[in-house]
Amino acid sequence: MSDIEVIKDKYLGEISAATDGDALETIRVAALGKKGEISLLLKTLGKMTPEERQTEGPKINGARQAVADAIAARKEAMESDVLNARLATEKLDMTLPPPSAPKGSIHPVSQVMDELAEIFADLGFSVATGPEIEDDWHNFTALNIPETHPARAMHDTFYFPQTDDQGMPKLLRTHTSPVQIRTMMDVAKQTDGEGEPIYIIAPGRTYRSDSDATHTPMFHQVEGLVIDKNIHMGHLKWTLETFVRAFFERDDIELRLRPSYFPFTEPSAEVDVGFSVEKGRRIIGGDPRGDNGGWMEILGSGMVHPNVIRNCGLDPDVWQGFAFGCGIDRLAMLKYGMDDLRAFFDGDLRWTEHYGFDALDVPTLSGGVGA
Ligand code: DAH
Repeated sequence: MSDIEVIKDKYLGEISAATDGDALETIRVAALGKKGEISLLLKTLGKMTPEERQTEGPKINGARQAVADAIAARKEAMESDVLNARLATEKLDMTLPPPSAPKGSIHPVSQVMDELAEIFADLGFSVATGPEIEDDWHNFTALNIPETHPARAMHDTFYFPQTDDQGMPKLLRTHTSPVQIRTMMDVAKQTDGEGEPIYIIAPGRTYRSDSDATHTPMFHQVEGLVIDKNIHMGHLKWTLETFVRAFFERDDIELRLRPSYFPFTEPSAEVDVGFSVEKGRRIIGGDPRGDNGGWMEILGSGMVHPNVIRNCGLDPDVWQGFAFGCGIDRLAMLKYGMDDLRAFFDGDLRWTEHYGFDALDVPTLSGGVGA
């Protein structure tokens, strides 16, 4: 046997005896590394005569290849041995209960929006939406708030630096009332100005440049709009009473309508709910005339101003209606007892865990929450 055969067999023997990756690596370096035995032999080829090279070259290269192949094969075998050993010893008990996954909860604002949609759906209202980036016309002008009207100054509006293509100022809507306009205009368009009854609520985000414990720059409102023939304030009062009693889940809630002013309604009324004190806690309902009882304002409302109906392309001599607008965050605070509005928007999971809701708590007119 030539030297190279002896060397090759030596390494092949060592490779098959190797029991781990480190041992294999040591063999590889000794044989095929930069200064490995076979690598050095390969270098001697350069000094041989062409004849010698012709016989020795294939032998040395063959040995190099054989050793490299053997190392690769042994490595693969070791890996599958390790895997087989793990498969033989490790067990997965499929009967164990799975680890519990963290469960989110519903934010009180979303919960109240769902409650509103459910309660008003039972009264025949559908949910309408509109853009949060509005223009001056839908947010103000069409609502009978002309450019010089002082109500504009009261809204602390966020304006965009640029106007739209027609030179119209753009803004973040300051209330949900522009959804009234969009809904009436859609109906006027779809019916060629004929009109048809409208019963909608429009919950959503609204924006004003204001921030303290009871005001945040972004907040939520719900708008209500009814347009039909022969609608009067009695319908408004009944609807609000039915809504408030279902929402706060008490039948003994009294409402008080106070004359007020909004440009888009005539007459206008601010609506107060009666509260009383039970077990030292203020609650909505009970006798507002009793000890420590009283009234608190919860929303603005009124009969839709004929100018608004006309601005939307409908005939105010045929169609009348009522509208109302209410702060959703405040409704949530009153019902569920939070006292700082800012916490609504902090995104602190401990807060949502405390005040949040299960996905299945859905209220209805007859049953209240969770029925
Ligand atoms: N848009 C009013 C506001 O944000 C609230 C309001 C009052 C809405 C009376 C109405 C309404 O639809 O009739 O202050």
